[in-house]
Amino acid sequence: MLVVLLCLPLFLQALGLNQEGLFLQRVKQSLSDPTNALSSWDQRDPSPCNWRGVSCPSPTGPVHSLHLSHLQLAGPFPLFLCRLPSLRSISLANNSINSYLPPQISTCQSLTTLDLSLNLIAGPLPPSLAEIPTLRNLILVMNNFSGLIPPSFARFQSIQVLNLAGNLLNGTVPAFLSNVSTLKELDLAYNSFSPGFIPSQFGNLTNLEQLFLAGCNLVGQIPSSLGRLTRLQNLDLSYNRLTGSIPSSISELKSIEQIEIYENLLSGVLPLTLGNLTTLKRLDASWNEFTGTIPTELCGLQLESLNLFVNRLEGTLPESITSSKYLHELKLYNNNLSGTLPSQLGENSSLQFLDLSYNQFSGEIPESLCAKGKLENILLMSNSFSGEIPESIGKCQSLGRIRFKNNLFSGQVPDGLWGLPRVVLLELAENSFSGQISKTISTAHNLSVLSISNNQFSGSLPDEIGSLGTLVEISASGNGFTGQIPESLVKLRQLVTLDLSGNKIEGGIPDGIKGWMNLNELNLANNNLSGGIPTDIGTLPVLNYLDLSGNSFSGKIPIELQNLKLNMLNLSNNQLSGELPPFFAKEMYRNSFLGNPGLCGDFEGLCPKIGRSKNRSHAWILRSIFVLAGLGFVVGILWFYMKYGSFKKNKRRVTISKWRSFHKIGFSEFEIVDRLFEENVIGSGASGKVYKVVLGNGDTVAVKKLNRGVKKDDSVKFSAKVADFGVAKIVKRVGEGAEPMSVIAGSYGYIAPEYAYTLRVNEKSDIYSFGVVILELVTGKPPNDPEFGDKDVVKWVCVTFDQKGVDQVIDPRLDLTYKEEICRVLDIGLLCTNALPVNRPSMRNVVKLLQEAVGRTS
Ligand SMILES: *[C@@H]1O[C@H](CO)[C@@H](O)[C@H](O)[C@H]1NC(C)=O
Ligand SMILES: *[C@@H]1O[C@H](CO)[C@@H](O)[C@H](O)[C@H]1NC(C)=O
Ligand SMILES: *[C@@H]1O[C@H](CO)[C@@H](O)[C@H](O)[C@H]1NC(C)=O
Ligand SMILES: *[C@@H]1O[C@H](CO)[C@@H](O)[C@H](O)[C@H]1NC(C)=O
Ligand SMILES: *[C@@H]1O[C@H](CO)[C@@H](O)[C@H](O)[C@H]1NC(C)=O
Ligand SMILES: *[C@@H]1O[C@H](CO)[C@@H](O)[C@H](O)[C@H]1NC(C)=O
Ligand SMILES: *[C@@H]1O[C@H](CO)[C@@H](O)[C@H](O)[C@H]1NC(C)=O
Ligand SMILES: *[C@@H]1O[C@H](CO)[C@@H](O)[C@H](O)[C@H]1NC(C)=O
Ligand SMILES: *[C@@H]1O[C@H](CO)[C@@H](O)[C@H](O)[C@H]1NC(C)=O
Ligand SMILES: *[C@@H]1O[C@H](CO)[C@@H](O)[C@H](O)[C@H]1NC(C)=O
Ligand SMILES: *[C@@H]1O[C@H](CO)[C@@H](O)[C@H](O)[C@H]1NC(C)=O
Repeated sequence: MLVVLLCLPLFLQALGLNQEGLFLQRVKQSLSDPTNALSSWDQRDPSPCNWRGVSCPSPTGPVHSLHLSHLQLAGPFPLFLCRLPSLRSISLANNSINSYLPPQISTCQSLTTLDLSLNLIAGPLPPSLAEIPTLRNLILVMNNFSGLIPPSFARFQSIQVLNLAGNLLNGTVPAFLSNVSTLKELDLAYNSFSPGFIPSQFGNLTNLEQLFLAGCNLVGQIPSSLGRLTRLQNLDLSYNRLTGSIPSSISELKSIEQIEIYENLLSGVLPLTLGNLTTLKRLDASWNEFTGTIPTELCGLQLESLNLFVNRLEGTLPESITSSKYLHELKLYNNNLSGTLPSQLGENSSLQFLDLSYNQFSGEIPESLCAKGKLENILLMSNSFSGEIPESIGKCQSLGRIRFKNNLFSGQVPDGLWGLPRVVLLELAENSFSGQISKTISTAHNLSVLSISNNQFSGSLPDEIGSLGTLVEISASGNGFTGQIPESLVKLRQLVTLDLSGNKIEGGIPDGIKGWMNLNELNLANNNLSGGIPTDIGTLPVLNYLDLSGNSFSGKIPIELQNLKLNMLNLSNNQLSGELPPFFAKEMYRNSFLGNPGLCGDFEGLCPKIGRSKNRSHAWILRSIFVLAGLGFVVGILWFYMKYGSFKKNKRRVTISKWRSFHKIGFSEFEIVDRLFEENVIGSGASGKVYKVVLGNGDTVAVKKLNRGVKKDDSVKFSAKVADFGVAKIVKRVGEGAEPMSVIAGSYGYIAPEYAYTLRVNEKSDIYSFGVVILELVTGKPPNDPEFGDKDVVKWVCVTFDQKGVDQVIDPRLDLTYKEEICRVLDIGLLCTNALPVNRPSMRNVVKLLQEAVGRTS
């Protein structure tokens, strides 16, 4: 009796839950459910129809669909699901389903939708999937499926959506998929296919609405048969290596809304027939090699976004673009476009993003650009735009970034422009603007960078600038500013750069500068400033660039300056007097204190009356050579190794010892000095010019002649150093360990990406800069080149390497007999320029890797 009673509840329960529920319980048991997402799956329920994720047409079943996305469920695919006879739809997207997808999946004979995207499934695609007659949507995006797409997939009977993107599939994009005439969406993007053509048979998939073949390693031409896809709305062939021109049959894509063919090797002209595509909303053909003009007809009525940047287009921006009333994005930078902009551009289009930089546009900018009040970015850098900025732009409250650098603009800047509330970057540098900075700047609450150098601005800097707590950079050098430095500037706690050099500012450095906790660069050179140098400068924690030269500062040099770790110190040409602080009383700081009649250091020759040694420049060059030799130890091995492969014929040890002895006895300073002709200059940096010198013995060396201003420390830039490519310099305060600091004195192109978003650098940022140098050596290209467009050499190498192979990356002047070594060095460069600082090797390892790269084959 007792036994019976005990068993009764179990019995009832089993009686209660129907068969489908029992199967689902087995499913639950087979999955790990760390968040208890399936707690509602209660076995005491009569049917599973109220359980989470389960849907049935009626309360008692049968189960039609199971949707358990985003629940962190883990385990192999729960095959018990296929026991549910009416199950039509399974979604387990974004879980941790792992292991293989079993071939028995084909026993799910009623299935119409299987969505297993974003899981961890590996192994082959089961060929049997094609045997599910009802299957319409097969979505396996972002797993680790590998191997070939099974030929059986040609026999799907009802499939409409086949999405296999983001897996590890190989082989080529299979032509047999063209047999699946029911397909509406075919997505094979980002798989590890071998190079292959776009199957021309895809032109038979006339039901296709979406075709995504981005990153599929496609080569060859775009087949003209694709023109038959008259229902196609979306064509994405980006990130491939397609060549040839756009087939004119493209005009037959009657339903097309979006064409993405960027980052290919397409060339020729943009076909006029693009203009027939009245449904086209977005065209992105950037990063190709298109020539010719922008077809007038292109600018259709529906166009929302036109991206043609980094091509070789010429001619003007067609007037017809003004009739594209939905146009909000127009990016045409890095082409060879010219002429004036259509005067009604923006009148009827809600422009948000306009980037016409690096072209040859001229004339005035249209009054109507912001007529719809949506313009957020206006980037017109490096063109020949002229005239004044229209008042209307000054009223464009939506603006966030304004970049007008390096044009021929003139006249006064509209008052309103200074105070636009959302503007983060206001860059007017290198034009001929005049007039004053308006007090309305007080409303520019989000202004981070104010870059107005090299114009003809005048008047005094308004006090109001000091109220803009978000300011990180003020660069206003090379103007005609007068008056005093506003006291209010000391309130700018975020300020990293303050460059007011080359103006006519007078008065003293304001009190209270202690608040400049983030200031890296203080450049007040060549003004008419006077008074003492405040001792507080010595307390600025990250100041590493201090130039107060060419003013009338007087009094003593505060000893507190010794606390700073300066890359650059210049107090020359002032009225300073007294003793130098002991730390600076070194030869290497001589040029920091020139032209201060009352100032005397312990080292000879500072005081002007003593006069300068005639032989100084010779001594300088000598020193430079030795320092260079040190530099050469790291960079030189590389350079020589690659340029002058003959070294390689010897054993590596011999190579190095040859190099060592070479710089000691292989040439004399006289041989070098006599050959430093201007025509031999092969480069120049902030600290001096680099000459190519062919020695008597036929060898070639690179010699850097340091500018006098470059500080030198005899005890140290003779030991091997990688330096002088404008790297960030770490400043460590005692007791702070390796905490990164916001210190930068970098040349553009060498600066690690983290600086851009964190304004912080550390040793790994130097590794990045060094990596850029390696890439320069291997590619023979400068860190920034108009050819790269938005990219720098790092991005260029990655993209080119990816798309066109390593041969397109390597400097053609290098001897490809050593390709293997060159590739290893390239690898090291890429390693060093990894976007994530932690992934970059230490300099110790870099040196080791370089030595190995060069040594392994000898
Ligand atoms: C995946 O699911 C997690 C929760 O498990 C969620 O936080 C995440 O946003 C989801 N990712 C996507 C792409 O849906
Ligand atoms: C998926 O493939 C990637 C790349 O090959 C690999 O790093 C990862 O470990 C794989 N994951 C699984 C679960 O197989
Ligand atoms: C394709 O992938 C499979 C499975 O990962 C592998 O065994 C095969 O070698 C690959 N084939 C090619 C050509 O890469
Ligand atoms: C595709 O269809 C063609 C013609 O209907 C047929 O010859 C071919 O075998 C099919 N391909 C596959 C892989 O089934
Ligand atoms: C389209 O399919 C037919 C067979 O149905 C085949 O003969 C033809 O070659 C295909 N056309 C293209 C352009 O692939
Ligand atoms: C495309 O437009 C051109 C003129 O731009 C016209 O001659 C041609 O017939 C049009 N083609 C189609 C298919 O509409
Ligand atoms: C803008 O729209 C107005 C009203 O529809 C029209 O009169 C004007 O011509 C349009 N401007 C341009 C440049 O298309
Ligand atoms: C750009 O166009 C101008 C004429 O507008 C021409 O002189 C120049 O050579 C072109 N530059 C390039 C790189 O095509
Ligand atoms: C300024 O920027 C902050 C965030 O960076 C944003 O939340 C705020 O809305 C912006 N202010 C204006 C006026 O755009
Ligand atoms: C510099 O300022 C002094 C007053 O401090 C003034 O007498 C002198 O004229 C100014 N020099 C220049 C070039 O503006
Ligand atoms: C400082 O500036 C003067 C010119 O005013 C220049 O001659 C000198 O070389 C500079 N010193 C340094 C260290 O840059």
